[in-house]
Amino acid sequence: MTITVDQNDPLERILSIEVARVTEAAAIAAALLRGRGDEKAADQAAVDAMRSALSRLPVDGTIVIGEGERDEAPMLFIGEKVGSREGPAVDIALDPLEGTTVCAKNLPNSLTVIAVAAKGSLLNAPDVYMEKIAVGPGYPEGVVSLRRSPRENLEALAAAKGVPIGEITACILDRPRHAKLIEEIRDCGAAIRLIGDGDVAGVIHTTDPEETGIDIYMGIGGAPEGVLAAAALRCMGGQMEGRLQLNTNEKRARAETMGVTDPYRIYTLGDLASGDVIFAATGVTSGNLLGGVRFYRNRIETHTLVMRSRTRTVRDIRSRHYDRARFGL
Ligand code: FBP
Repeated sequence: MTITVDQNDPLERILSIEVARVTEAAAIAAALLRGRGDEKAADQAAVDAMRSALSRLPVDGTIVIGEGERDEAPMLFIGEKVGSREGPAVDIALDPLEGTTVCAKNLPNSLTVIAVAAKGSLLNAPDVYMEKIAVGPGYPEGVVSLRRSPRENLEALAAAKGVPIGEITACILDRPRHAKLIEEIRDCGAAIRLIGDGDVAGVIHTTDPEETGIDIYMGIGGAPEGVLAAAALRCMGGQMEGRLQLNTNEKRARAETMGVTDPYRIYTLGDLASGDVIFAATGVTSGNLLGGVRFYRNRIETHTLVMRSRTRTVRDIRSRHYDRARFGL
């Protein structure tokens, strides 16, 4: 398929459907290995399927967030060229299996994720940790910030929402490194939703607190996941900040080769993801955000969210794949 580039809308609308094919293929491949206790095998299956589906995506794509740096990842590495080369030049951020451990344990909230964006508009983040704070749409700009303490942020958010602080829930990865943060949040009287893995979904949950019960995402997770989450927020609305955790010389040097000049910089949502962005995620295991892949005798069903920043549209796509043989079944 050849896509003509419209200079006013360089990320053609048709790509919104094409990216869903990519995350669907990866999700089905990973889902076949749910609950097998083998994180590597599930991740590899998702990588292989995503790479093969990407080769048909009508873009001239460069991976900026992928499976790792060139010397450590044989496929979907940072800098790898993907796509059919017949479309617009784009940058691609992806995580073929976000939540490898939860997939291997068959627990909720593993996803396959991709963001396609205008060239140069996604932060080229090294694979290090990132401190993050995110809230959904509808609050005054700057309502929360990494420059302020957890208490100040929770108080400001509660005031902006018009509720007592006790009605605010923060989502945080359940990790020992968050012990102090958890204590501080509880001291303020706010509630915490601890998640085992998957902070892309954690950030997205802040966009619909009535549905998810989550008002704010706080804490340290992967930097690549931070860029992917920012791409989703660009489409759904919301605010986010991220600060890379470059606590060794080696990490600072690695970040520098990727263009990071200030190791302490606080990145805003627009720094993490700007320009036109298309984001897609398909559920591997069921979660609050997405249903997992379901295998039937005569079909496979997938649940995908596809979002586009230009129009701020979120599409909920439930696909039935009747040709199971295409997926090796
Ligand atoms: P993987 O899919 O790479 O296992 O990532 C899962 C995840 O929970 C991310 O969502 C999160 O950003 C990161 O791990 C946190 O890292 P760690 O498990 O080292 O705390």
